[in-house]
Amino acid sequence: MHSTVVIYESKYGFTKRYAQWLAKALACPVFEKKRFQSQDFALYDTIIYGGGLYAGGVSGIKLLTENYHALAEKHVILFTCGLADPNVPENVEHIRQALSTVLSADMLEKIKIFHLRGGINYTKLSFLHKAMMAMLRKMLLKKDLTALSSEDKELLETYGKFVDFTDEKSIGEIVEYARAL
Ligand SMILES: Cc1cc2nc3c(=O)[nH]c(=O)nc-3n(C[C@H](O)[C@H](O)[C@H](O)COP(=O)(O)O)c2cc1C
Repeated sequence: MHSTVVIYESKYGFTKRYAQWLAKALACPVFEKKRFQSQDFALYDTIIYGGGLYAGGVSGIKLLTENYHALAEKHVILFTCGLADPNVPENVEHIRQALSTVLSADMLEKIKIFHLRGGINYTKLSFLHKAMMAMLRKMLLKKDLTALSSEDKELLETYGKFVDFTDEKSIGEIVEYARAL
């Protein structure tokens, strides 16, 4: 019997929701990254890590990169949670490209990666995040509309709003994969 753990870092709760759904489906423990001690990796065979996407990077991904030696004999699953629709291949390509700058070729081969869709609530954003989004919007508005990526268009369409694309059913693939290990 394999033992599994779900660990996550979530700034506004979207990734947390997915982490909790996964833990419920897999009947396994779930920890916020800051409450997880890296020596406890030894207790599990399968590590599922989830983080929100911020400017292309996965929140808290250092947990995997800095402890990679402890993960060598384990199954590692990574899920990202972003605003951009992962059903659009261009968006996934973008995330994968960014991941390839932080994960070594070895890690990319070992880690099974999934992409889930979160949301955004502008009234809850930190001052810094609000400023970053405002700057990004300003930059995008200067661009020719035809030059905008699907991700850029989504950002403009949802700017200033509260949107929530989380969907419990979308964890199905991850659950199936983890159960088959
Ligand atoms: C400053 C900032 C940058 C973001 N960058 C991205 C991004 O590069 N790609 C994306 O898909 N979503 C991006 N988002 C949206 C978040 O990934 C989305 O809100 C996600 O659901 C957050 O999950 P969390 O609440 O668990 O941290 C960004 C949001 C903020 C505030």
